[in-house]
Amino acid sequence: TKKIILDCDPGHDDALALTMAIASPKIELLAVTTSAGNQTPDKTLNNAMRMLTLLHREDVPVAQGNQTPLVKPLETAPEVHGKTGLDGADLPDPDFAVQDIPAIDLMAKVLRKSKDKVTLVVTGPMTNAALFLRVYPDLAKEKIEQIVFMGGAMGLGNWRPSVEFNIFVDPEAAKIVMNFGIPLVMAPLNVTHQAQIMKDEIVKIGEIDNPVGKAFYGLLNFFEQYHENPKWGFKGAPLHDPCTIAWLIDPTMFKTDKMNVDVETQGDLTRGETVCDYYMLTDKPKNTEVLLGIDRERFIDLIMESIKSFSD
Ligand code: BDR
Ligand code: CA
Repeated sequence: TKKIILDCDPGHDDALALTMAIASPKIELLAVTTSAGNQTPDKTLNNAMRMLTLLHREDVPVAQGNQTPLVKPLETAPEVHGKTGLDGADLPDPDFAVQDIPAIDLMAKVLRKSKDKVTLVVTGPMTNAALFLRVYPDLAKEKIEQIVFMGGAMGLGNWRPSVEFNIFVDPEAAKIVMNFGIPLVMAPLNVTHQAQIMKDEIVKIGEIDNPVGKAFYGLLNFFEQYHENPKWGFKGAPLHDPCTIAWLIDPTMFKTDKMNVDVETQGDLTRGETVCDYYMLTDKPKNTEVLLGIDRERFIDLIMESIKSFSD
């Protein structure tokens, strides 16, 4: 099994990534930390705790991350994720307490306690990850096996023409993470836009007879509606963050390529763009395994299985 810490900003697709991680016997979820991104930090924290309550995993320690990105003011995405950050379903109120330490201290605590190396999964802006690497560099080098993140793109954007939301929110943090030296796995928009769930598949999720299926029926319908705008040319809704967990569970459903990835933090039009050196035009290290293709059918099957597992 892979031990992971999930740093997220739920967020509909974050919530699904969390659910898949909990459902999988191949993953052991050591902690959840929350970032400011899709919504304000108090809302994303509350959403992570509401999800863990729904999933009956109140035993997973949760800590809140930084209130703002490192340099930029916070920009959230209410048009995508709603007023709560997780609109579309009635989720239970949290029935457990948040850890009274900051996210990076919980990360440190969990890493020190673990005998094995741990994978850090980041499905929101990289603020907490960057702070962790800056405050605990030695512990990070010793104990973090890899950082698997959803963010960035090769030539695409969803918030600016060539800038993806997670990196847009905190480009300076992303730059710190990408240049730190821990191996990276990146799920860019190029792959997450292939990882679409169709309306009839959302209906099938609603037919799964457990509270998790009912919740995701509402959540995914809400999320799908935003993506119906013809400008995207989608047939369904892209499930960005679940690609990270799917890769950990079954990497054989992806096509990947190794290259150097860095982040533009200066550009007038491109601040937050991930610069992917596909042809290795620089001699910078191949720091990132980039997911570029996905077997969509198998991905959706995994999601169905994950949600069904909560009936047992
Ligand atoms: C990313 O931004 C958020 O809206 C999603 O949760 C995902 O992490 C996609 O650009
Ligand atoms: Ca997210």
